[in-house]
Amino acid sequence: LTTVKSIYRDTAAYASKEVTIGGWIRTMRVSKNFGFIELNDGSFFKNLQVVFEADTLSNYTEITKQGVGAALIVKGLLVETPDAKQPFELKASEIEVEGTSTPDFPLQKKRHSVEFLRQIAYLRPRTNMFSATFRIRSLIAYAIHSFFQERGFVYAHTPIITGSDCEGAGEMFRVTTLDLNNLPITEDGKVDFSKDFFGKETNLTVSGQLSAETFAMAFRNVYTFGPTFRAENSNTARHAAEFWMIEPEMAFADLEDNMELAEDMLKYIIRYVLENAPEEMEFFNSFVDKTLLERLQNILDNDFGRVTYTKAVELLIESGQTFEYPVEWGIDLQTEHERYLTEQIFKKPVFVTNYPKEIKAFYMRMNEDNKTVAAMDLLVPGVGEIIGGSQREERLELLEERMEELGLNKEDYWWYLDLRKYGGTRHAGFGLGFERAVMYLTGMGNIRDVLPYPRTVKNAEF
Ligand code: 4AD
Ligand code: MG
Repeated sequence: LTTVKSIYRDTAAYASKEVTIGGWIRTMRVSKNFGFIELNDGSFFKNLQVVFEADTLSNYTEITKQGVGAALIVKGLLVETPDAKQPFELKASEIEVEGTSTPDFPLQKKRHSVEFLRQIAYLRPRTNMFSATFRIRSLIAYAIHSFFQERGFVYAHTPIITGSDCEGAGEMFRVTTLDLNNLPITEDGKVDFSKDFFGKETNLTVSGQLSAETFAMAFRNVYTFGPTFRAENSNTARHAAEFWMIEPEMAFADLEDNMELAEDMLKYIIRYVLENAPEEMEFFNSFVDKTLLERLQNILDNDFGRVTYTKAVELLIESGQTFEYPVEWGIDLQTEHERYLTEQIFKKPVFVTNYPKEIKAFYMRMNEDNKTVAAMDLLVPGVGEIIGGSQREERLELLEERMEELGLNKEDYWWYLDLRKYGGTRHAGFGLGFERAVMYLTGMGNIRDVLPYPRTVKNAEF
């Protein structure tokens, strides 16, 4: 089968030649002697117009009865049509019905709302918008791998089932083989996890970072790219219970190196997608976000902003803007603050660094002021936080001290602590939320619309 994308890309190579295309009917118009089909073959969000005639097709009547959504294999001559709306069409010499479609097919030739399309998530890839979105999603994943592989980073697969809570936020999904309706109880009234498959409490991972750190201490530069899970009860357009994260980790590196890597990576991905999917990007610019291409170009042409948390708080207060959640030193920046900083004050992506230790995870490196840690969040217009990262605490005593302060059980992390004893180096890394990156690059406004099958609060259908 020829792909419609290759015909769009190099029409001259196919013009006046015979091609065979397999695809699904998007629309069909028929009259007594001829008909038109808009066929989508999945290789591209644009359709191929098929013309078919009663004179040439022995099964003409059968074809005219096919419903929207039916799968066809069409053989015919590709002719250029410079005067028509579409640059070429396929004059069918044979059409074979591969799979019929019933009249209740839910996608009709009108614009459906994204909310409606979420309810039929199993069919929405057959619309232009979702075809473009999931193709870009695939391309960004590929670009991320190329970026790291070109730089010699080793791809490390970190466990999905884990006994530790990397972020310490307690937002984990439990994994257990115990019978929930008949839990074994110990003498002191607790659930007896020794009877569980793993003999201890386990969860779905919230981040691969801790395991990635162990690999960084062997390979120097590594990255993970895998699913992560958070039972955050936040019903927002940017949070999902199951999302993908990219987590590079570098030995012999500090916060500065970390920011450089993050900026290079984002620019690389943007360039890659603009070069390799110009049609889809034009589509998003026309139908989803009219400022998208200009905004992305602007990002490529400029350095990201940099500001400390302390300075950011000052800027927010000085702005005179009233926020729902009042700003003062020590607060965890909320989405409204993050977006104000990046959209109104900096008007470009900005790294916020050196956050108060109280609002960040236990593993971040303590700064000399003893109040802040070497953290960095990257905020971008339209999305807010897209990356969270830090330089890690490599000094064993300070790490242990911090864990004690936070009431973490050191025995659970023995291997993580040992890492500091056996040639522990300066090291740093970050996590890029993959779906947030896809939102950022497409302009799509809701995380539910960049995940093939979103898992959010009270939603795990399909
Ligand atoms: O800032 P977070 O929580 O950082 C970590 O997990 C670190 N362990 C990463 C590291 O240093 N290796 O999460 C990183 C990113 C966020 O910036 C955000 O883009 C994304 O992951 N993220 C989510 N995306 C979708 N839904 C959620 N519920 C998310 N929570 C975090
Ligand atoms: Mg974060």
